[in-house]
Amino acid sequence: MIPYLRNLNHALLAAILLACLPSSLAQYLRQSDLPQDPAEKATVLGHWLVAPHADFQGLRTVNPFLTDEDLKYTKSGSECDDRSKGDVCADVPSWFSGLGIFNLTAEDGIRFLGVMDGGPANACKEPRGTPDHISHKDYVVPAFAPVVSKFRVDQTHGVLLEHHCFLKGSDGEPLNGLPNTDNDDSPFTGGDCEVQLNRSVNGLDTEEVQKIPGTNLCLAGDEYSPSMVIFNCEFGTKECGTVLTRYIPEGLELPGASYNVRSILPGAFLHRRKGRGFESAAVSPDGKTAILLLQSPLGDDDKWSPFATSHVIHAVKMDITDPGNAIVAAHYLYVVENFLNWFDKRKPQDTKISSATWASQFAGTDHDVLVVIERRPNQIKFFLADFTVASDIKENSLTGDLAFDKLGLHDKSLKKLRELGVEPARKALFLDTGDVEKDPFIENWDSSDKMEGVAVLNSCVVAMADDNDFGLGREGQPGITVVQLSECMDAVFNRMNT
Ligand SMILES: *[C@@H]1O[C@H](CO)[C@@H](O)[C@H](O)[C@H]1NC(C)=O
Ligand SMILES: *[C@@H]1O[C@H](CO)[C@@H](O)[C@H](O)[C@H]1NC(C)=O
Repeated sequence: MIPYLRNLNHALLAAILLACLPSSLAQYLRQSDLPQDPAEKATVLGHWLVAPHADFQGLRTVNPFLTDEDLKYTKSGSECDDRSKGDVCADVPSWFSGLGIFNLTAEDGIRFLGVMDGGPANACKEPRGTPDHISHKDYVVPAFAPVVSKFRVDQTHGVLLEHHCFLKGSDGEPLNGLPNTDNDDSPFTGGDCEVQLNRSVNGLDTEEVQKIPGTNLCLAGDEYSPSMVIFNCEFGTKECGTVLTRYIPEGLELPGASYNVRSILPGAFLHRRKGRGFESAAVSPDGKTAILLLQSPLGDDDKWSPFATSHVIHAVKMDITDPGNAIVAAHYLYVVENFLNWFDKRKPQDTKISSATWASQFAGTDHDVLVVIERRPNQIKFFLADFTVASDIKENSLTGDLAFDKLGLHDKSLKKLRELGVEPARKALFLDTGDVEKDPFIENWDSSDKMEGVAVLNSCVVAMADDNDFGLGREGQPGITVVQLSECMDAVFNRMNT
C-alpha cells in the first residue's frame, strides 16, 4: 500500500486521472487485503488523503442550498492558495470529525462514514468585561448544515467520496451548526465577531458517527447540549440526513426544534465544559447498545476551580433497541491517562477524548469493550476499555452532586473512587503515536495529531481519520491512516485481565 497525496493539487490531479481510468483498475481497500497478525512494531500501512471528484465544489456541493451571500466570508479556488490562517477555504470541507464503518466486508472495498461538525468557526478576541464562562465564536458560514458522507479508499488515488447528505429536520429543511442555548458559545459572524447571531435549537455540532447495524439509521455524538442524535443515513434517498430523535440531558429543552427531542440523558451531563460534548459514540454490532463518552471532565476548568485537575470522564450507555425511544441503561466513569505520562505535561485540562468505537467483536469477548482515543498536543493514545466491569453510578447520589468530578489528579482520583466503591472502566493502552512531530513511535507515521475518528478493521489493524477544520490554519485535505498494531486486540484484552 502506497501513496501519499499531500496537497490539494495532487489530489485534484489524481481525481482527474481517476476519471480517465477504467474502474477495474481501482484498487479499493478491502478487509481481505489486511494482515491478520501483529507487526513487530506498530506500522502505518497506508495514509490516503481525500481526493474529490473533478466537479466537486466543496461546501457548494455538500450544502447545495448555500448562496454566494452565505459563503461571502470564505475563499475558494486559487484564492485559497495564499489564504491566512484564519481563512476558510470552501473547497476543502472537514470530512472527519468522526469516522465510522458503513460496510466492513464489502468485496468491492470497505465503506467508511465521515461526519462534519458544526461548520467553520474561529475564536474571537473577547470584548472587555466578558464573563469567563462565555466564549464568543465567529461562524464563517452560519447557514452551514453538518454533512454525513460515505467513502472508500482507492489505494492508488486516495479516499474517494461516494455519497453525502446534509442533516435536516422532519420538514426536510437543513439544520445548522449554531449553538443551542446559553449553555453553549455565543455566536457571531462577520470575520471577528462583528455581527451577533441568535442561537438556534436546530444547531448540531456532530463529532462522531456510527451506522446502527440492521437499520437504515446512523447515530451521532454532538457537542452542543450535549446530545445523541439518531438520523436516516440511507444514502441516495431524499430522506438521507433526516433527524429522527435527538436525546439531550434532563432539565434541558429545545422548544421549536424541527425534530423529536427527548430530555432523558443524566442531568450531570449539563455540567459539561463549553465546547466539550460527545466526541465519542460507539454502537454495538447487534445495533442494540450505544456508549457515548464526554470529551473532557465536568465542571469549569478555571485555574483555581476544584474541577480543573479532574481526570474523570462521564460515559452513558444507551439501549437503542428502539432507536426512536432509547433508554438510559447505565452511567459510567472513565479515568483518562495521567497527564504526566504524555510528552506535553502542561495542563491536565488539555487531555481530550476524541473518538470511540465498539471492539468486543475484535477482542474476543462479549463484554462492552471499546477502543477509546485520547489526545494531547502532538500525541495520541489508543486504549481498550471494558465498561462491563465498571460501576453503574446512575442511582448514586454523589453523581448529581458532581462529587466524582472534584477528586484531583489521576492517582488521587483512582484511590478515592476505590474508597467510594466505584469502579471506573478498566483500560489498557495498545497504541501510542509518541510525539507525532519529533519522535513518532509508529513506523512510517506522517499524519497530524488531530485524529478525531477511529475504526477497527480487524483485530490487528485500526483506521483513523483527521479533521482539517475546514482549511483553517491553512490545513489541506484530511485523510485516513491505517495502522497495523504490534499487539492485536484479543491479546490486549487478555493482558488487561491478567
Ligand atoms: C456489505 O456489502 C456486501 C456486498 O459486497 C453485502 O453483501 C452486505 O450485505 C453488505 N453489508 C451491509 C451491512 O450492508
Ligand atoms: C434574533 O431573534 C430575534 C427575536 O426572535 C429577532 O427579532 C431577530 O431578528 C433575530 N436576529 C437574527 C440575526 O436572526
